[in-house]
Amino acid sequence: MLCSNIGTNGKGHLTFAGRDTTELAEKHGTPLYLMDEDRIRQNCRTYAAAFKAHFGDNALPLYAGKAASFKRIYSIVDSEGMGIDVVSPGEIYTACLAGFPMEKAYFHGNNKTDADIAFAMERGVGYFVADGADELLAVDRLAGERGIRQKLLLRLTPGIDPHTYDAVNTGKVDSKFGTAIETGQALELVETALGLHNISLEGFHCHVGSQVFEEDVFQRASVIMLGFFALIKEKYGFVTRQYDIGGGYGVPYVESDGEVNIAQRIGEVAGFIKKTAGELGIEVPKMLMEPGRSIVADAGLTLYAAGSVKTIPGYKNYVSVDGGMTDNPRYALYGSRYTVYSAGRMNEEANFKCDLVGRCCESGDIVQPNVLLPQPRRGDIIAVCTTGAYNYSMASNYNRLCRPAVVMLSGLSDYVAVRRETMEDLARNDL
Ligand code: LLP
Repeated sequence: MLCSNIGTNGKGHLTFAGRDTTELAEKHGTPLYLMDEDRIRQNCRTYAAAFKAHFGDNALPLYAGKAASFKRIYSIVDSEGMGIDVVSPGEIYTACLAGFPMEKAYFHGNNKTDADIAFAMERGVGYFVADGADELLAVDRLAGERGIRQKLLLRLTPGIDPHTYDAVNTGKVDSKFGTAIETGQALELVETALGLHNISLEGFHCHVGSQVFEEDVFQRASVIMLGFFALIKEKYGFVTRQYDIGGGYGVPYVESDGEVNIAQRIGEVAGFIKKTAGELGIEVPKMLMEPGRSIVADAGLTLYAAGSVKTIPGYKNYVSVDGGMTDNPRYALYGSRYTVYSAGRMNEEANFKCDLVGRCCESGDIVQPNVLLPQPRRGDIIAVCTTGAYNYSMASNYNRLCRPAVVMLSGLSDYVAVRRETMEDLARNDL
C-alpha cells in the first residue's frame, strides 16, 4: 500500500488509520476529508527529531499552514513543538484562535498589505519574512508607529531550479518571490535593512519549490545562501542568526513515486551545511525549515460516493463523484496523480477503466483520469488517497457547492475538526 496507514480489513473494505472507511462515510456523509492525527504527529516528529539530531537545539521546524489551515491543526503542531509559517491574516487569525504561541510564527508572502502587516503586529507574530524592499520599508514604518523593533528575515532567491513542476517552482532568479542574489539586489536590500531603526534583521529565507524529490536541492541552494552570508559578514560584519531553507520534501501520491527518507536527507543537508559553513568561516545559524505537504499529505484521504457511471462506446468511461475540483483542484491545476480505490470492494478485480470526474459544470473537473475500479455502481464509496495537503486549503464553492467536513481520526476515536459547510454558510454574506 501507498502508506502504512492504508489497508484492507476482513470485510474487504479500505481502512485508513485502522478504521473502516465505508463506516466513516456512512457516519459522516460524503464527500468527506479524513485526517489521521497520529500520522500528522508522526510526520512532525520525523522533522523535529532529525533537526534536533543534526542541528541540536539551535533549530526549529515550522509547519507551513498553507497546506492545511484550520484551528485543530495548529493545536496539533503546537503540541508537537513546531513553529508555523503563516501567509495571510486569515491564517494568523486561525492560529490565534487555536491559542498558538505567535512568537513562533513566521509571516511569509510576496505582497503583505499595510493592513496585513498591522494585523500581524497586533497579534504578536514573532517574525516577518520580507519579500523585497517595498515590504521591508513598510514593516519598518509600521513598527516605528508602534514603537517596536520587528524581528525580520529577508527572502532571497538563490537562482536554482529544483526540477519540480512549474507552478510551484520558486527558486529561479525570475521568480515573483524574493530578492535575487545574482542581480546584486539582495546585497542592496541587506544594506537597507541594516540602516533601519525599527527592524532587527535576524537572517534569511529561501524557498525553491514544493514537491521536492531531487537529492541535492537544499545543498545547491545552501551553497549560494551560505556564500552570501559569508559575503555580508565580511562586508558589513553582519552575522546571520537564522537560516530558513523553506518548504519540506515531496511525498508519494502513487506507488511509482518512491519515498524520500526525510530523516536521512536532513542528515545529509545538515552535514553539507556544517561543512560549507566551516569552509567559509561562518557559524551555522539557527536552522529553520517549513514543511507543509510532508506533514499532512499522507495523513489525508477523501471519500466520495459514486453517482452516474457513463460509458461512451469506443471512447471512454466516466464515473462521477459527489465532489470534484471544488474539494480537490490539483489535477485540474497541475495534472497531479492520485491513487484511487473503491473502498467497499477492495478484494474485487479492478478492471473498469474510467475517468473519475466531479460534479462541476466544467469538462476540466477531473479528479483523476485512467483509474481502474471494479465495475462501479451508484453509491460505491470511492477513496482518493494522499489528499491531506493543498486540498481542503484550496477548496472552493464553485457551483455553490458546500465544502466537505474534515474528520480527524485518532486512535479509536473520530471527531469533526471542521464541520461540513451548509447552504446557510454559502449565502451568509449575500445581502
Ligand atoms: N514555505 C514557503 C515559502 C512556501 O511557499 C511553501 C509552499 C512551503 C513553505 C511549503 O512547501 P511544502 O513543504 O508543502 O512543499 N498548491 C500546490 C503547492 C504550492 C506550494 C506553495 N508553497 C500543490 O497543491 O501542489
